[in-house]
Amino acid sequence: YKNIIMDCDPGHDDAVALILAGAKISPLNILAVTTVAGNQSVDKNTINALNVLDIMNRGDIPVSTGATRPLIKEASFAESIHGESGLDGPTLPKVPTLKASSKHGVSVIIDEVQQSTQPVTLVATGPLTNIAMALIQEPSIVNNIKEIVIMGGGTFGNWTPTAEFNIWVDAEAARRVFESGIPIIVFGLDVTHQLLADDQVIHRFSQINNKVSNLVVDLLKFFKSTYKEQFDMDGGPIHDACTILYLLKPEIFNLQHTHIQIEDSSPLTYGTMSVDLLNTYHKEPNAHFATSVNTELAWNLIEDTLKSYN
Ligand code: BDR
Ligand code: CA
Repeated sequence: YKNIIMDCDPGHDDAVALILAGAKISPLNILAVTTVAGNQSVDKNTINALNVLDIMNRGDIPVSTGATRPLIKEASFAESIHGESGLDGPTLPKVPTLKASSKHGVSVIIDEVQQSTQPVTLVATGPLTNIAMALIQEPSIVNNIKEIVIMGGGTFGNWTPTAEFNIWVDAEAARRVFESGIPIIVFGLDVTHQLLADDQVIHRFSQINNKVSNLVVDLLKFFKSTYKEQFDMDGGPIHDACTILYLLKPEIFNLQHTHIQIEDSSPLTYGTMSVDLLNTYHKEPNAHFATSVNTELAWNLIEDTLKSYN
């Protein structure tokens, strides 16, 4: 079993990531779920995490609320993609049955990492505010962090022409994380856009017909509709799920060890990830950047995992 902390802003694709990680057949041990302001306000993201865990029957996983806004900037949300609740589509309780812990998400990250008997993998599928704050507050945690698996960035953008949402929301935080020296694995838009949940995928998952797979189907339908509206694409990319697919089956991805930097001062390119794929700077690589995925194996893995909720 691998100890992980999931720092997220659920979010349709964050929810899929939680569902894959928390399945009975998953070898991942989720020490905690921490939420961050991103797709919606941090309080809405916490409600969504609790509702998803409840449907998964995983009320044993503690949920903590983290940062209410980025380090420097004001908060801004992705309502155009995830709706007013942050998880529009399925009908979910406004007041979840499960309760969040009263401990702050940043303290949870610090304490769980310090207490873990084995190095912890941090999975980050929202803006990197909580993780940057944890590193600022308690730098010694780097010694017990195995790696950070991040959904964010890429060589093109979805929030500006060059910046991806998670990095753009808090580029100051992202820069600190990429400069931390911790091993980083990045799933950016280059790879996540290879996994589009189109009608065919949605139809395939609708055949499974259990509580969790039906939730995923409702999520993917809504996600598909906003991706059509905003980007004229025929399916929502299941971005965040790539982090967990990688932890479950790393061999389905191609990765390139490369040097990555985050722009946090230019007005035009704020939040842009500079990925040195051709090694133009001849700098020591600081990240593994995913370039492609075996889509057939990825969808099979998701299907099998959803079936395990029967
Ligand atoms: C990322 O932004 C959010 O909308 C998604 O949940 C994902 O983490 C994609 O750019
Ligand atoms: Ca997310």
